[in-house]
Order: sequence, then structure tokens, then C-alpha cells
Amino acid sequence: MEIITAIKGFKDILPQETGKWRYIEEMARKIFTDFGFREIRVPILEKTELFQRSIGETTDIVEKEMYTFLDRGGEYLTLRPEATASVIRAYLEHSIHAADPVARLFTIGPMFRRERPQKGRYRQFHQINAELLGLDDPRADTEIILMLIHFLKSVGLADLRLEINSLGCPECRPAFKESLIGLLQDKEEGLCGDCRRRLTTNPLRVFDCKMEQCGTIIAQAPKLLDFICSTCRDHFERVKEFLKDFELSFEVNAGIVRGLDYYSKTTFEVTTEFLGAQNAIAGGGRYDRLVKELGGPDIPGIGFAIGFERLISLLPIKDEDFILTPQLFIAALGTEAQKKAFVLCNRLRTMGLRTEMDYTGKSLKAQMKRAGKLKSRYTLILGDREIVEKKAELRDMQKGTQETLSLDTMEEAIIKTLREG
Ligand code: HAM
Repeated sequence: MEIITAIKGFKDILPQETGKWRYIEEMARKIFTDFGFREIRVPILEKTELFQRSIGETTDIVEKEMYTFLDRGGEYLTLRPEATASVIRAYLEHSIHAADPVARLFTIGPMFRRERPQKGRYRQFHQINAELLGLDDPRADTEIILMLIHFLKSVGLADLRLEINSLGCPECRPAFKESLIGLLQDKEEGLCGDCRRRLTTNPLRVFDCKMEQCGTIIAQAPKLLDFICSTCRDHFERVKEFLKDFELSFEVNAGIVRGLDYYSKTTFEVTTEFLGAQNAIAGGGRYDRLVKELGGPDIPGIGFAIGFERLISLLPIKDEDFILTPQLFIAALGTEAQKKAFVLCNRLRTMGLRTEMDYTGKSLKAQMKRAGKLKSRYTLILGDREIVEKKAELRDMQKGTQETLSLDTMEEAIIKTLREG
């Protein structure tokens, strides 16, 4: 019978990899907590409407990529394609904003987008996501960007590029839209079917088009940054000044439009040349109208998400560096020794000491080989003869030295040795 494999674009994170994942998660928890962020865990499944209303009906994510199904109860549900909408839903639903509108929240977990799988692009992927709600001060933008870069550098990411842009506010959009539509209408025959449709539904989304034919037209398009109002320009200038104060190098890239509709003012992406086509490690920006659009008060926000898989693929860390090998392997020969070893092995485990043994009763040579394979620090050799003689041998596998222990005091001696080294 054939084995059943995982779904295309869905990946297992294998035991040898999870140490690395945990290390990065722990670093994120530590650094984000230092910046005053608190962890929130939100469901993976939400009402479809939540994403339609936040990400936008006419974005690629909502139009083409969501895993949506009709629940047995007759309601449309969606596997979350991102976390921001869920975090804000929870912020409103639990009145977190009523106690204090300023909230720094982060969440880590899987997201789902039915994109075409390729290197660095999966259908289930993981994000480390942070949201700062309740502050429209440019220092909030700076703080969030600083935290992102500090985290990425702290986990060992070298050669990152920070690009920033401003997408303005509803005040600045109409003039830009008009100019963009003007150009697109002139070149309409050259556009793909999707972009022709976008022309009337959501012109800004033409910038997400990956078709070559549209690329050349879009390259001539006006830039939102040239249309932003004085308030947005002032905000953007101040963010840039603050970033310089922290000696954070960045480039202004007026081409950053982001693929989600909720953004306004500052947007940013962190990229690297080592990822090929899928070069964004992280992306984010301000979303000053989103809380209101989701039925809440007029509360601004800004946040980012880091692509876990993309980040991990770039780090100079090896799986082996995070695998915890046994501190002790007990090689037990004979019935009496096996019995004693079983008790000792599990007693040491309950004391927090990583201990392994072999239940098969193979030869000493085979058991020593296994201890070596597991890279155990020490091996305890316990044979029936040793039991009669009331002793056991403790071998230091690193130094190659061996010590004879008396059976009566063996446990304490082992605990002491393992705890010391
Ligand atoms: P996003 O740019 O759609 O933003 O995703 C953020 C990051 O998730 C990307 O830069 C990338 O590293 C990773 N990512 C996205 N799609 C995939 C995929 N199919 N496979 C692997 N990695 C992927 C957001 O999701 C916003 N919610 C970010 C945000 C938070 N904005 C404000 N707050």
C-alpha cells in the first residue's frame, strides 16, 4: 500500500529542525518582550468576512489564495492568510482597546495562502508578527522598524536591505488614482485581463501584477510618494530622521505598495539578494483606518510580519547546533542489569537529566555503538557481573576516560557528574 503524503506546499518541520525553530521563536519572544510587546494567540480559522473586509476583496490574497470553505453550519470560514486581521479582531472583541488603546502585541504561527509553491513560497508558512496599536506618532513607526531590524540582526541575519515608502492617506489618494487611471486607460490594450479589471475595481493593485506585459506599463506609472499630502510627507520625513538617529540604513523605494489594501502612510520591506524571486523576508506598515473598518474606534496601528521559513533559510545556523544529545546512555547487559538500568534511566529523566538506554539487550559493543551514534556525553556500563561485584563503569565519551563507581553510591555520583558537565 502506498503511503499518504502531505499536501502540496505544506511542509513538515522535522525533529532535527525544531531546535532551530525554537531558538528563533525564543529570541523573538525575548526581544519583543524587551520592547514591551505581549504575546497573543489567535485561532487559525476565522470568518471569511474578516479577511475580505481587512485585506480587501480585490487583492490577490482574497481573490485567489485563500483556503475558504463552507462550514457544516452554513458559514464561510477561512484558514488565516495573515495574522493582523485576527489580532485586531481579538483586540476589539476583548475590549483590549477600552482599557488602554495602546497595545503592543505579537503572535507566531502558521498562515495559509494557496500560491504556486516554489523555493521560499509555501501554502502553509509561518510568520512572526508584531502589531503596535494606538499610536500615530512617527516614533511608533521607528520603534517597530528598529525592533524588526534588531531582531533579524540578533538571530544572525547579515546583508539585509530595509526599504521604506509612504502610501499616503485617503486625502492623498484621489489625485494619485486619477493620474494612475489616466495612464492605464491610455495603455489598456497592453494590460492583462486581471489588470483591466483592476482598473475599475482597485487600480492600486495593478502594482501586484507579475505579468511581463503589464510590468513595462506599470514601470511608467506615477508613484504615490509623489502625491502625498503635507501631513503624510511630514510624518514620513520624521520617520526617516529617527531611523537615521538609530543609524539604521534604509532606502526609499516608491515601488513598495504591499499586497494588502489596509496600508496607509509608512510601509516597509526587508529583503536580501540571497532569496531569488521570493526576496522579502519581512514586510509591514501602518494601517490607520483598519481598526475602524473592522467596526472599532478610530485607532491607528502599525506592524510587520517576518516569513519564518525564509528567515531560517538565510541564517548561518546548523540543525546540529540545536539538537540536545543525551547526557548519559546506559548500556545494560543481562536481566538484572536491564532492570536496574530501566529504573535508573527513568529516575534520572524525572530529575531533568537527558538519559537513554537500549531495551533490546544487544551486545555491549552494539550498545556502545548506539551511545556513540546518539552522541551521548557519558555512558554507564552495567553488566550482571558488575552487579554481582557491586560496581559500574562510567565512561566519559569525550575524553575517553573511565571511572569505576560503587553501586551503592552510583546514582549520586552520576547526578553530580551530569550536573557539573
Ligand atoms: P506579507 O508581506 O503578506 O505581510 O507577509 C509577510 C512575510 O511573510 C513576507 O515578507 C514573507 O517573508 C512571508 N510570506 C508571505 N507569503 C509567503 C509564502 N507563501 N510562503 C512563505 N513565506 C511567505 C503580511 O502578512 C502582513 N500581515 C504584515 C503586517 C503585519 N502588516 C502589518 N502588520
